[in-house]
Amino acid sequence: GKVLVLHGPNLNLLGTRQPEIYGYETLDDVNNALREKAVQADWDIDCLQSNHEGVLIDAIHAARLDGTGAIIINPAAYTHTSVAILDALNAFEGTVYEVHISNVHQRESFRHHSYVSLRANGVIAGLGTQGYQAALDALIKAKAASSR
Ligand code: DQA
Repeated sequence: GKVLVLHGPNLNLLGTRQPEIYGYETLDDVNNALREKAVQADWDIDCLQSNHEGVLIDAIHAARLDGTGAIIINPAAYTHTSVAILDALNAFEGTVYEVHISNVHQRESFRHHSYVSLRANGVIAGLGTQGYQAALDALIKAKAASSR
């Protein structure tokens, strides 16, 4: 299996950005925990953060061709704005799980709508940075990224 983890804009600031909302774990902490879990399951994992919509889209395109079976994506603010990321994910044939660290439904109304949810096979919100691990656990349990 091979899984791609994508983090959208401002998530490079994780741990220092509004920690009352997003917690004190850094993006490296998150990615390291995911890598450890992937290794245990004998899966390949790539983790990428970008503040640029097109970089995220290019990574989704690459995942169509390199045997990636599943994408875990926190599109961050692009969740609520990006038809282009939705379109890219619609061109990807594997499993897509959408993760939000915070409970977006408890926050401003502009965070209640997600374009990406139209494509996501599953959505996790409000579990903190643990949400990424929950997503990877669920993928591994479902063997969702095997055999592509
Ligand atoms: C977020 C929620 C988004 O509304 C916000 O723009 C983010 C992070 C989250 O993980 O809770 O940057 O996706």
